[in-house]
Amino acid sequence: MERMDRLATLGELSAGIAHEIRNPLAGIKTSAQVLEESFSPGDFRSQLVSRIVKEIDRSNKLLQRFFNFAKPNRPKPGFHSLKNIVDGVFLLLAPRLMKRKIEYSCEIEEGLPNIYIDESQFEQVILNLFLNAYDAMPDGGNLNVKTWYDKSGRVMAEQESKGVVIILISDTGKGISQEKLERIFDPFYTSKSDGVGLGLSISSRLLEENQSKIEVNSVPGEGSAFKIMLPFVQEDRQE
Ligand SMILES: Nc1ncnc2c1ncn2[C@@H]1O[C@H](COP(=O)(O)OP(=O)(O)OP(=O)(O)O)[C@@H](O)[C@H]1O
Ligand SMILES: [Mg+2]
Repeated sequence: MERMDRLATLGELSAGIAHEIRNPLAGIKTSAQVLEESFSPGDFRSQLVSRIVKEIDRSNKLLQRFFNFAKPNRPKPGFHSLKNIVDGVFLLLAPRLMKRKIEYSCEIEEGLPNIYIDESQFEQVILNLFLNAYDAMPDGGNLNVKTWYDKSGRVMAEQESKGVVIILISDTGKGISQEKLERIFDPFYTSKSDGVGLGLSISSRLLEENQSKIEVNSVPGEGSAFKIMLPFVQEDRQE
């Protein structure tokens, strides 16, 4: 709860900052565009100014992305095939995984019902988990996805018992020590030189917004397993 609270504050704060930075950027962009018009077409200075405009557009995109990250939109859930989502994310990373000789396998339980989830938010979660697994296996290894439907399970104690869909993502990477385990979901906690430390905190927040949960199990030197639990929702088929 405390972590969610911190994240919410962080989200509001950074969304505020992102917004405040966008205003001066808009001013700079307009001015640069006016300046650009005052140069004759072949003038080298007009190239410099168009570079300014381009870089501002890039910053704006970055801000937008961060904004989405820090303060996610309200989920728009629908029924989706878990396999399609996982396959899509895998395709995105396949070249990288192959290059590092990471073996990938995916076992989707036969007849698994569609999951009720915000598709793009869920994709983001899977992508973060895959990327972390990739980072944890610099010398190759195995990345395995396993999913099943547990009829009697539930995500939270108060959930009506309609069952839970489980997605287990495990790697044979370096693993996580006990003391690190307590911090990996904290915003900005990272052990990587080029990490931001938002992947897992955002993922757990997104899952929470989708009434779902994530748990981790890890053995240093052997690997890690992240378990996502989605409440099962019956799809109304009126064909
Ligand atoms: N599969 C994994 N194996 C080993 N360590 C992991 C794994 N997943 C997460 N971690 C640890 O948890 C930390 C936090 O992960 P998180 O995804 O939040 O941030 P990050 O990957 O460091 O940066 P980014 O914001 O780019 O995702 C990582 O730095 C790493 O130490
Ligand atoms: Mg990460």
